[in-house]
Amino acid sequence: MPDVRDSFRNVAANYAKSTFHASTIRLQEVLDLARPKPGDLALDVATGTGNTAFALAPRVRRVVGLDLTREMLNEARRIAAERQIVNVDWVIGDALHLPFQDDTFDLYAVRAAPHHFVDVDQFMAEAYRVLKPNHDAAFIDCSPPLPARDVLHDVETRRDPSHVLSLTLDEWVGKLQRAGFQVDRAEARELDWNYEEWMGNMAVAPALSAELAGLIESAEGDAHAQLHPERREGKLWHAYWHALIRAHKPSSR
Ligand SMILES: C[S@@+](CC[C@H](N)C(=O)[O-])C[C@H]1O[C@@H](n2cnc3c(N)ncnc32)[C@H](O)[C@@H]1O
Repeated sequence: MPDVRDSFRNVAANYAKSTFHASTIRLQEVLDLARPKPGDLALDVATGTGNTAFALAPRVRRVVGLDLTREMLNEARRIAAERQIVNVDWVIGDALHLPFQDDTFDLYAVRAAPHHFVDVDQFMAEAYRVLKPNHDAAFIDCSPPLPARDVLHDVETRRDPSHVLSLTLDEWVGKLQRAGFQVDRAEARELDWNYEEWMGNMAVAPALSAELAGLIESAEGDAHAQLHPERREGKLWHAYWHALIRAHKPSSR
């Protein structure tokens, strides 16, 4: 399996300004889902350059931003210093083996990363373990419907070899429930997706980008209807989906 750090160490600056990752509207979406409270100790797993952690920071007591890739956290640290954000701590660590004790956090968040995790059940078990009972977790990740997922899976794995799998909404809900969570809200939200920016975030070479665009544009049947690819002023746009899920760890199982 490719090392996820190889995918991210040279592109950190892109994730600090990507429309999906850094725009106010997408960060407000995180806040609406996660519902942070002023006294919370929040954990943002796979924080990358810290976008989600920065959105949570003014709303909580303290945030821990955890990520595997040192260069992404270096960028997060740089931005935190620039914006004078002082209530975020940065930790290098693995979502599948969190370096925290049981029942530590008031809020668990993860966005745009679980599709990299090689063992989703283990990641969910860890989320459940470190969250305090009677508290909530927010999960946001790419989540295309079938059969669009089959087309996007080819594109995703060639765009970024550390892509493992995007779960459908039903797969998310089933797995979270098996991990012990009570799922309070689950929706798959569709976005109008700027293909060129998406490829640019991962610095995909132009020839490969053109080839992968061809996979999306030549999708057939239901996949084509779901993706509805379209050229605007020569640039490809298509549909892209994220699961937005809030889940509750009950006080006892
Ligand atoms: C697209 S970026 C995350 C974006 C960020 N969550 C946000 O909201 O802007 C994906 C991140 O997942 C991290 N990552 C991938 N697998 C990981 C793992 N097992 N544990 C921790 N971080 C991981 C990568 O290092 C990368 O920084």
